[in-house]
Order: sequence, then C-alpha cells, then structure tokens
Amino acid sequence: MDEQQTQFNSWFEGQNETDDLLRDAAANQQEQADERSLRPRYLREYIGQPALKEELAVYLQAAQMRSEALDHVLLFGPPGLGKTTLAMIIANELGVHLKTASGPAIEKGGDLVALLNGLEPGDVLFIDEIHRLPTNVEEMLYSAMEDYFVDIMVGQGPTARAVHFPLPPFTLVGATTRPGMLSKPLRDRFGIMNALAYYRTADLAEIVQRTADIFEAPITTEGALAVASRSRGTPRVANRLLKRVRDFAQVAGQESIEPELVNQALDKLRVDQRGLDDTDHKLLTAMMDFYQGGPVGLATIAANIGEETDTVAALIEPYLLQIGFLKRTPRGRVLTAAAYAHLGRPVPEDLEKK
Ligand SMILES: Nc1ncnc2c1ncn2[C@@H]1O[C@H](COP(=O)(O)OP(=O)(O)OP(=O)(O)O)[C@@H](O)[C@H]1O
Ligand SMILES: [Mg+2]
Repeated sequence: MDEQQTQFNSWFEGQNETDDLLRDAAANQQEQADERSLRPRYLREYIGQPALKEELAVYLQAAQMRSEALDHVLLFGPPGLGKTTLAMIIANELGVHLKTASGPAIEKGGDLVALLNGLEPGDVLFIDEIHRLPTNVEEMLYSAMEDYFVDIMVGQGPTARAVHFPLPPFTLVGATTRPGMLSKPLRDRFGIMNALAYYRTADLAEIVQRTADIFEAPITTEGALAVASRSRGTPRVANRLLKRVRDFAQVAGQESIEPELVNQALDKLRVDQRGLDDTDHKLLTAMMDFYQGGPVGLATIAANIGEETDTVAALIEPYLLQIGFLKRTPRGRVLTAAAYAHLGRPVPEDLEKK
C-alpha cells in the first residue's frame, strides 16, 4: 500500500470513530448552510434543464411586460434536483419578495391566512411538499389561487360568521416529489407545470466545476466528470460527493482533484460506478434474494429494507427506473437484466416474461 492510500485509510477510519449523533446534526446544519451558499440566484446561473429554463424565461418576461403576477407554478421531481432553487430564482428574476412555507407546517386555515396576509402585489409564496397540505388548508387555497381571496370563519357557535378577505395578485410556487399525490382540483389551478428531469452528466460536471470554484478547490475537467458520473443525476448529490472528495484531496495533499482520487474516494464511500449506494444495493439484492426479481409491491420492498414507502417512491426508485434497472408493471416492480449484470449475478430465466 502506498503512503497516500495509508493516509486515506487512517483518515477514513478516524471519521467513522468520531461518528456520533451530535456530529451528524452539526454536519447537517453545515450542509444546509453550504446549500444556501451554492444556490444559483438567477436563471442564467442555473445549469442544465434547458427546456424548462427556456420556457420559464418566456413566462417571466411576459409577466413582467404586462406588470402582472406570474401564473402559479408547480415544480415536481425527485429530491435535490433544484426545485427550491428555482422558486428562489423566480422571485429574484421578478424582483419580488419570496415567502417560504412547507405543506405539513401549514396546519390550520389561520396559518395560511397569516402567510397570505403579508404578501405584496406580485410576490411569490413558495410551498414546499405541497402534496402534504392538510385538506382544509388546501380547500382555502383554491379561491386564493383562482380569485385572490379567502373566506375565513371568525367566532364560534351562533356568532360565527364568514369574513371575506381579499388578497393581492400573487404567484404560488408549489414543489413536490410526489406529483401523483396531488389532488386534481389543486393540480388544475397551476397554469405552469414543470417536471425536473435528472441532469445529464455534462451538466452535472459543470455544476461540480462551479461548486469547486466557490470552494476554491481546483478540479480537473476529468475529475469533475468522474464526480458527475457517480452523482445519480442529482446536483445535491454531486455537491455532497465533491465535498467528501475535497477532504480526501486535502489530506492527500493533492492540489488539483484528479479522476483517480475521485474514484478512490468514492469507492471508499461505497458509491459505485453508476452512483448507487448501500441503500440501492440493499433494494436490488432484497428483490433478487427474496422475490426472484419481482414482481413485488413498493410497500413490501420498502418494509423489507427498512425504509419509508415515501422514501423509496420519491428518492430510491425513480433513479433505478431512469437507468433501466427497475420496471413498473401492473403487478408490481420487476428488476431488469441490466440490474443483475450490474451486480454480477446470473439473470433468472423467466425474468423477461415477468
Ligand atoms: N441547476 C442547478 N445549477 C447549479 N446548482 C444546482 C442546480 N440545481 C440544484 N443545484 C444545487 O443543488 C442543491 C439542491 O437543490 P434544491 O434544494 O433546489 O433541490 P430541491 O429539488 O428543492 O430538493 P428537495 O426536493 O429535497 O427539496 C442546491 O443547493 C443547489 O446548490
Ligand atoms: Mg427543496
């Protein structure tokens, strides 16, 4: 083993020993702070998603030319693809205020009114995880979105009465990782709906380069591509992997991040050539070992690997579908020959018929 490798190993082991909940919490805070500083602020800085960007630029410009509020926007797609970032960009581009809330945190009608109350004409209200809004809040939102008013009940019993509460024209930007869980009436009230797709490797490499510049951590073009190709098509993953690789480079005393170092570091972090991690492997092997490759229901797989169904549906499964390791059938999920090949296992004979 060469000296660099030994240094890696001792550093890596040390990391594991000090791993405790406190440090995790601190790391999480740090991660959130980093995420804020890494967010592009204008559309021109937003890398990738060319079709979406082009479309949005037209709507933004048209709304500004008419001095109107932008139509309501629904953004959907797997975690970490840039939905929150886009919501912030929309407000920045329009030069209006942004108010941020999360679906499950808006518990009562009053919470929604409090949010809507402070809006100025043209402002953006961003509701993350909008599929998790309580029903009564969602129903109040209908008139707010369509006709810019809410009717609220004040008082109780015989003295209760409805108060009509007009609102300024505003733009609701909703984000969700589970568009299928949105009710039809809510979905129908968004004039602009855009899916965020997994990023192309070239675009992710550009994001890695940009992040490396911000961190002042030099990386070669090939190094950036190596990080990008293992990032599950996801900017948040790319940035996270880059940070870990930067640590390895620092300890190894490497000035510029090269692909060899990237590959060594990511092997250590158990992120494989296709960007799959332990959880993905767990899912694939559980389906192979216990269900002969499927078909098996999503909730059953989730229970098997000890994950929430929601996590599997929003985070794990979409990427495996995207790279063709998993198929959806009417009877459940089925693995493909590519998944078996990736894990170096023989393909069951009846797989094609499933
Ligand atoms: N197009 C992009 N260009 C550069 N960086 C990006 C881009 N999209 C996302 N990022 C980076 O990825 C990180 C995650 O993005 P963001 O928080 O917007 O994802 P999200 O879709 O809102 O995720 P979640 O569903 O978990 O809320 C951001 O900090 C940002 O730095
Ligand atoms: Mg978000």
